[in-house]
Parts: sequence; structure tokens; C-alpha cells
Amino acid sequence: MSISELDRAPVPAPAGEHIRSLPVPPPAPVPDRPRSRSMRRLREERDRLRDRIVAGRSQAVDRQHSLGKRTARERLDLLLDEDSFVEIDMFRRHQAHGLGMERQRPHTDGVVAGSGTIDGRRVFVYAQDFTIFGGSLGEAHALKIQKVMDLALSTGSPFIGLNDSGGARIQEGVMSLNGYGGIFQRNVQASGVIPQISVVLGPCAGGAAYSTALADFTFMVHDTAQLYLTGPDVVEAVTGESVTHAQLGGAQVHGTRSGLATFVHDDEESCLEDVRYLVSMLPSNNLALPPALPSCGAAADTRPRLAEIVPVEPNKPYDMRLVITELVDEGDFLELHEGWAQNVICALARIDGEVVGIVGNQPMVLAGVLDVAASQKAARFVRFCDAFGIPLVTLVDVPGFLPGTDQEYDGIIRHGAKLLYAYCEASVPRIQVIVRKAYGGAYIVMDSRSIGTDLSLAWPTNEIAVMGAEGAVNVIHRRELAAAADPAALRARLVEEYSEELVHPNYAAERGLVDDVIDPADTRSAVARGLAMLRDKRKQATPRKHGNVPL
Ligand code: HXC
Repeated sequence: MSISELDRAPVPAPAGEHIRSLPVPPPAPVPDRPRSRSMRRLREERDRLRDRIVAGRSQAVDRQHSLGKRTARERLDLLLDEDSFVEIDMFRRHQAHGLGMERQRPHTDGVVAGSGTIDGRRVFVYAQDFTIFGGSLGEAHALKIQKVMDLALSTGSPFIGLNDSGGARIQEGVMSLNGYGGIFQRNVQASGVIPQISVVLGPCAGGAAYSTALADFTFMVHDTAQLYLTGPDVVEAVTGESVTHAQLGGAQVHGTRSGLATFVHDDEESCLEDVRYLVSMLPSNNLALPPALPSCGAAADTRPRLAEIVPVEPNKPYDMRLVITELVDEGDFLELHEGWAQNVICALARIDGEVVGIVGNQPMVLAGVLDVAASQKAARFVRFCDAFGIPLVTLVDVPGFLPGTDQEYDGIIRHGAKLLYAYCEASVPRIQVIVRKAYGGAYIVMDSRSIGTDLSLAWPTNEIAVMGAEGAVNVIHRRELAAAADPAALRARLVEEYSEELVHPNYAAERGLVDDVIDPADTRSAVARGLAMLRDKRKQATPRKHGNVPL
């Protein structure tokens, strides 16, 4: 008997129940087609729809490709581990009316959202689809993004947004603006809890730009990415200024002038590859440890080249990146804001397998002074590392803060205070390495003992003082120098005296402000040992609602 015949057969009476002959009920009506075939048809319909959604409109996809851009799904394929993407809300459509919107209701509503893995670690992600309403953000689009943000936050996973959007969807009016507000609110709630990464791969106009500014890291791609509040047309209408998209908000502008772009890339492949690299160095959330690799024996490493890189003369330039290359595992580090505020370097790297944040003055640019931009750049980086438990290694070679009216008018005191505030507040392990000079307020700010560094190491070339010998002699011996028969000879003698008294290599170490004066070749091993020593550091902050960082 076949299964379907079994289904139709009358139910036999149980044994011993034939006392009375009961009427047998008629068999239940059976549908013409078995249930499994109907399910198959439904599944096929669903698969066809899915395939159509995934393929997109071919003309629009071709246009996207002709602009040198990949589609949202192609980008997710590059970003995430193979076959790891789990999509959410693929079938979602907007519910808007008016302006012909009811006749155009594409599935996804212009954003592909969900979760996947990067090197096996969970991330939540959205990718805006410029082929649908120019990736513009309406209510449903915003709710999809908010949904993955909520999931990222509740599961403690990094959140990554791939942006390619004309901004607020004009046809949906205030509901679009409301959608942005909900995203910003979540950006702020997630700040310091999960890493947030914004990747700009096309236009990112209006509201979308703020979400990018609220993220921890922003990636941009040359030629195709633009970030601005209002596009060139509006700019021209309002101010009369004629400007191109790239001039207004291209990767070059944000990578070198505004400081909004943390990383700038030539193409989408290398950009998304670097997003993966960045994620590989970040903890999933503020309660997780940064992903460490096994020790590579750095505690026993010597690096004789370090002494050759740094000239003994305090004013001779050199590239601090070469120092970093010697200090970190495999000479490999990820530099943030490579083209902005180049007088300070901020980088993520590993030392003996442990992720560290490195801040270093760059004597090659503006002699490594701290100015407005450098202070902002380093302050934000220090705060990020502190929020996510990443130890800080600070390489000091700084002549001071940049003097002058430009800097004073631009608020160097206020911005310098941000860096000071960030270090004072940081409770992660902190190691300071004074490579050469460290003068004045800039010495204090660059993670000095007085503001809470845990371990201060100095090379024998260290010069820690209120100011350099020449400047100091000019101030404290002005009258004698003015009256001297041979001021040059007197100045030389006074400079030597000052240097011997106040800036000799052990001056700060004798006073406990430097914990050890080390051979430059031993820096990598000393830092690796320091990190091991500080691994279990715990510091409880005094309860308060929040501090008042000088924004
Ligand atoms: C609805 C939009 C749109 C938008 C683009 N499109 N932006 N639809 N709302 N904001 C649609 C276009 O109508 C077009 O549809 C398709 O997307 C592609 O756009 P094009 O203009 O053909 O593409 P392109 O030439 O590449 O120019 C892209 C662009 C431009 C630079 C992004 O579209 C543009 O300037 N858009 C407006 C940007 C803007 O000002 N946004 C509002 C920001 S105000 P069809 O059907 O023709 O393919 C804002 C407020 C929030 O966001 C503030 C919160 C703080």
C-alpha cells in the first residue's frame, strides 16, 4: 500500500472493541495534490524571488559597475568570510505613499543587512545598494539598519556599515530624518561598547555623514567616495561657490584636511581587505580582550638598528615609522590617519602577540611638534584604545606645542587639553618610551609619569626639560648676554652648563620620573616585558555620570 493509500484508508477499530458495530466515518477529503508538492512550489517561488532580489536590475547593476563601483552584495562577499553572510530583512519593502512611491516597492529597500564572520569572528553589517533609490534612506531602510545595530550591541559584535547613498530619501520626508535620528542614537549608545566601522564607497551625503563621524573608524576610496553634508548643487545655490564632488568631500579632502577619513584606499578590494585587517586587531566589545596571538619571544629580542635610526643630535629629523617597524611583530602595523596631522603617528600593531596602540611623535614632519590637528588625532585614538582595553605605547620625541597666533586662535589650548584629558583618564596599561627630546607641556601630555603612565623608559639620548638649552639660556640669562663682550662664547658656555645640570640622561631617572634608562636595542624586549607585567592592571574610576572632556 502506498503512503497516499494509507492516508485514505479507514481507521481500523482497536482489538476487543467489536462489541457493537459502529458506523465507520467517511474518510477525510484529501487535497488533489500532496502537501509536499505544494511546499515545493512555494519554495520554488521563494527561491525565484530571492534570485531576482540578489541579481538586482541588470541595467542599474551595469551602471554601478560603469561608475567603478561594486554592488552591495559583491562588497559583502569581499568583506566577509566565504558563505558566512546571513541576511536579515531581504523581503522588506517600504510602506510609503505619494509621489508615485506605491508603484515602486523594491525588496530590501536599498540596503542589504545581516551578519557574517571575519576570520571566524561574528560582525554585523549593512551595505547600501545605490541601484535602489540611489541607496537613499527611507523609513524601512533605516529600520533595517537599526535592527542590525541592535543585534550587534546585544551580542557584543563589531558593527560595519558600507555606505553608498544619496542621504535622506526625499520622497519619505520626515520619516527619513527620523530614521537617521534612530541610527545616531544607536551609534552613540554603542560607542565604547562595540567597535563601529564606517566604510564610504560612494556618495555619503547629509545624514549618513554624521553616522560616519560617530563611528570609530572611517574608510574611504579615492575617486568614488564622497562625504559631505550638502552636495555641490546646494553649495552653489546657497553660497555661490562652484565646487566638484571630490573637492567638496572626496577621500583626499577627508584624508588630509578634515581628518574624517581614518583610512584612504585606491580601490574597494584593498579597502575591504584593510577593514578585515583592522577587525583582526580589535576586541569584539569592551568586555572582551583584544585578540592576542601566541608569544613570539619578543621579550628576548634585541634590535641594534634602533640606535642607528635615531640621530643623537636633538634637531635632526628621522622617520619614527622606522622605529615602530623595529618594535612591532613582523614589522607590521596599521597606521591611522596616514595623511592627516602627520606630525604624530597613531597605529595599531602587535608586540609579542598582544595588540597595542602606538602613539609617536614624528620628527620628520614639523619636527614632531604637537598642534591642533595632532592633538585631536592622538586624543581620539587614546580614547578608543582605552575604551577597548588596548594597551598604549607612547614614543616621545617632541620639541613642544607649536607656538603662534594661528594655533592660539584655532584653540591649541582647548585641543591640547583633549589629549591631556585622554591620557589622564586612560586606565589601560601605559608605557612611555622617551626616545630623544621631551620638552615642556608636550612632555607632560605625551603620557608622562605625572599623568599616570605605568612604566617610563628612556633612551640615553633623552632630554627632558622645560625647554631646550638654547631657549632656556636666552630667557634666564638675557641681561648677561646683552651686556657680554662676546655673547656667542658666553651663550655656548651657559648652554653647556644648563645641559649638564638639567638635561643629562639620568636627570629624570634620578627623580623617579623615568623608571629605567635602556639601551635602544633593548626597547622591544623592555616593552614586551612591560606589557606582560601590566597585563592584569585594574583601575577603578571614581563614580560619576561622565567627565566633561573639552570637546
Ligand atoms: C531619493 C535619490 C536621492 C535621495 C539620489 N536618488 N539621491 N532618491 N532621495 N536623497 C536617486 C535619484 O533620483 C536617481 O534615481 C538615483 O538615486 C541615482 O541618482 P543620480 O543622481 O542619478 O546619481 P549620481 O549622478 O551618481 O548622483 C548621486 C548623488 C545625487 C550625488 C548622490 O543623486 C545627489 O546629489 N543626491 C541628493 C543628495 C542630497 O542632497 N541628499 C539629501 C541630503 S539631506 P533614478 O530613479 O533616476 O535612478 C539629508 C538630511 C539628513 O540627508 C540630515 C540629518 C542630520
